[in-house]
Amino acid sequence: MAKLTVKDLDLKGKKVLMRVDFNVPIKDGVIGNDNRVVAALPTIKYVLQQGGKAILFSHLGRVKKAEDKPGLSLRPVAKHLSDLLGQDVIFPGVTEGKKLEDAVSALNEGQALMVENTRYEDVNDQGEYVKRESGNDPELGKYWASLGDDIFVNDAFGTAHRSHASNVGIASNVSRTAAGFLMEKEIKYLDVAVNDPKRPFVAVLGGAKVSDKIAVIKNLLGKADKVIVGGGMSYTFAAARGRKIGNSLFEEDRVDLAKEIIAQAGDKLVLPDDSLAAESFANDVPTKVFEKGIDDGWMGLDIGPKSIEKFKETLKGAKTVVWNGPMGVFEMSNFANGTLEIGKYIGSLTSQGATTIVGGGDSTAAVSQLGIADQFTHISTGGGASLEYLEGKTLPGIAAISDK
Ligand code: 3PG
Repeated sequence: MAKLTVKDLDLKGKKVLMRVDFNVPIKDGVIGNDNRVVAALPTIKYVLQQGGKAILFSHLGRVKKAEDKPGLSLRPVAKHLSDLLGQDVIFPGVTEGKKLEDAVSALNEGQALMVENTRYEDVNDQGEYVKRESGNDPELGKYWASLGDDIFVNDAFGTAHRSHASNVGIASNVSRTAAGFLMEKEIKYLDVAVNDPKRPFVAVLGGAKVSDKIAVIKNLLGKADKVIVGGGMSYTFAAARGRKIGNSLFEEDRVDLAKEIIAQAGDKLVLPDDSLAAESFANDVPTKVFEKGIDDGWMGLDIGPKSIEKFKETLKGAKTVVWNGPMGVFEMSNFANGTLEIGKYIGSLTSQGATTIVGGGDSTAAVSQLGIADQFTHISTGGGASLEYLEGKTLPGIAAISDK
């Protein structure tokens, strides 16, 4: 990789600014899924082992008013990180000021400190939504950069699609910004998949809305050998093919676009043939498989058995697979089968030498819920970030990392 990495830095005795993405689900002070914290551990441990003094920055949730702050404190995450590291992570509980500066000055080699949720800066003391962090206020980036010794390690791939003071802002105020190990790994897998894949390269796209995935579908149609489309958005494509879709999810204003994509893509685009439907959006109602069209009064909630076989056939022998978005409403057990079957099949290709990558919040949640997370080469910690990467966009957080 042509970017500077944490291994290129001399860290001993240095105050090392680090951006991580600890935007994890928290309910009543309890972390729901700590994948992102665990994924950042190798870089944090490395910095500490090298004798660095780590100053960690992360956002958590979206802070839009003063009342959002108490429930979005990073304190539980700092506590959890302390447990994972087996050492105390100092948590001054503020984003700026003397208390923070004193705590930074008192750091010893091998110690870590976590700054409070960077998005606290989005709301000022008067309760106004001023977006200093998420609007990349130049003074804020400069101030945070001043806390360190001119080196910045960015390991927050999940935030790379945002231009915040705590990633892009700090980077523009230090001489050297390096990628952490997680950032390096994410870029390595996603970049090779999209730009230099071993073929056949098959993309599997799902999720509710065509509008969310248009750019990904278009970009991957130009790169992959086959693009499979399942999930809620496939019903807009079904409508574009002139099929009846009953009450299924549907974006009327995207039908023409779907027609255009179908015409341009030819047999590269692989769509479902049948669908598992229910009379309402519920798990405890009768289900029925429809082929070709769905009757009025029914809604498609998962791909049907023929589509599962067709998609597996398409995936057979693939050497690179990128999967983004579930095939159905996997959160309800009656409609999880399509996602599970396709997920397991993609997973089985890993042991046959394929590189298999899962990206996007929903598909990542699906593989965890279905217990198949260990079957893939790489599960991205990025939701929006991995989506934008697959769209072929330049992510500001990555662009701000220094070249070697
Ligand atoms: C994410 O979870 O996708 C990132 O942490 C970014 O969060 P955001 O969508 O609130 O900017």
